[in-house]
Amino acid sequence: MDSERDVAVFVGSLRRDSLNLKLAKTLAELASPRLKLGFVKIGQLPLYNQDDDGEMPPEAWTTFRQQVSRVDAVLFVTPEYNRSVPAALKNALDVGSRPYGKSVWNGKPGAIVSASPGAIGGFGANHHLRQSLVFLNVPAMQQPEAYVGGADKLFDTEGKLVNEATRKFLQNFMQTFASWIETNSKVLASAA
Ligand SMILES: Cc1cc2nc3c(=O)[nH]c(=O)nc-3n(C[C@H](O)[C@H](O)[C@H](O)COP(=O)(O)O)c2cc1C
Repeated sequence: MDSERDVAVFVGSLRRDSLNLKLAKTLAELASPRLKLGFVKIGQLPLYNQDDDGEMPPEAWTTFRQQVSRVDAVLFVTPEYNRSVPAALKNALDVGSRPYGKSVWNGKPGAIVSASPGAIGGFGANHHLRQSLVFLNVPAMQQPEAYVGGADKLFDTEGKLVNEATRKFLQNFMQTFASWIETNSKVLASAA
């Protein structure tokens, strides 16, 4: 039987009423009980500056690095800002990637969902994020791809998903992600 896995969820938007936050909460509800999803905040992280990465890095960086180190896998749910990744999320990637040689991302299986009110569902952000994850050695699930367009039409005033086809798609996405985590965890364990 497959084990329980801790999954850190990073939401690329800091907005209170974020569509991506609603989507991330929906993904957590739809996930297999074997996946323990925990939200990791990124908005409090000071901008990465290598000068501050000596003996006494900012406490928020240290806490964040510890939170990510502990998990088995990572899930990114993000909007697209100007056809790329929001600065807050890129900053979180950078903070977790340093000091050099101590990246907390290394080898953690991952998945990306992007969402936008626009028709192409944050495709640009999704793929820019993939580019960084290649370098960070995060095996990012390729299929199903998740570019959630028209996201402003998907939730009711309580933040509940109201589109049945999207629910089925997201459920399948999380099931596949659970298998992806198992497969990659075994590959990584056998390589250790
Ligand atoms: C700075 C900024 C840049 C944006 N750029 C894009 C973009 O490139 N593509 C897109 O589809 N939407 C873009 N948007 C619109 C966002 O998709 C929209 O605001 C969305 O609701 C943000 O996600 P959230 O609801 O999770 O905060 C942009 C919004 C902001 C504030």
